[in-house]
Amino acid sequence: MSKAGVRVEFDVENATDKLPRHIAIVMDGNGRWANRRHRPRTFGHRAGQKAVRATIEACLRRGIAALTVFAFSSENWQRPDEEVGALMTLFLKALGREVDELHDHGVRVRFIGELGAFSPALRERMRAAMEKTRGNGKLAFNIAVNYGGRWDIAQAARHAAQAVVRDEITPARIDETFLASHFALADLPPLDLFIRTGGEKRVSNFLLWQLAYAELYFTDTLWPDFDAACLDAALADFAARERRYGKTSAQLSSGTAGAS
Ligand code: FPP
Repeated sequence: MSKAGVRVEFDVENATDKLPRHIAIVMDGNGRWANRRHRPRTFGHRAGQKAVRATIEACLRRGIAALTVFAFSSENWQRPDEEVGALMTLFLKALGREVDELHDHGVRVRFIGELGAFSPALRERMRAAMEKTRGNGKLAFNIAVNYGGRWDIAQAARHAAQAVVRDEITPARIDETFLASHFALADLPPLDLFIRTGGEKRVSNFLLWQLAYAELYFTDTLWPDFDAACLDAALADFAARERRYGKTSAQLSSGTAGAS
């Protein structure tokens, strides 16, 4: 707000210091979007792909370092076989179609989750996409599939236990820093902004540990309707937040305590 109480428009083009470096999105609402059009749920998932593309393009334009989307949770296997099958086909086709273009735009593609549960054909496409784009640095695009935040924490704990068994570390070495270095996205900037579309206000076992100090943004927009303008609205909201990390406003504005 300005001194006169008039809301100053957020100028996203010139606000690089207030932009999140890492954004995570729960892309919810595909099914409802399709229902409203009297079409099968899979129609909504297909429309959702366009929103993924628009969001990647917007992140590239805005210079966002990392975008992590929740495409398939460990719990989504419980959906009807037909929907799970359609989603797998969609992922397979999307990978075949989009990877070259993502590569040309300098996007690094990574899949996180228990990939062993997928078909050999899909695993091979995922591996090839990761391999091809490994050296890209413009945007880290991470697709969480068969992923759960609890799984991520459990696999980091398992790594720690294995390191103890191999006598590489003592249990006393296992602290937050050690565990955090074993998460799926350990090498990326910390998560700054969590977005969930579709109106529900929960985190649904997404990046649980990483959410500790992320800013949360919920919108009623259904995922297939999400576009660059919706992303800019989330970025404007983020820029207006005061991230205190447990400190006081006064400490932050006097500069006596740096945020950690
Ligand atoms: C949640 O909406 C969405 C999913 C479980 C699938 C997300 C998949 C895509 C957007 C497809 C493209 C993705 C990539 C990365 C190629 P919902 O089905 O739970 O919707 P509802 O809450 O309205 O039922």
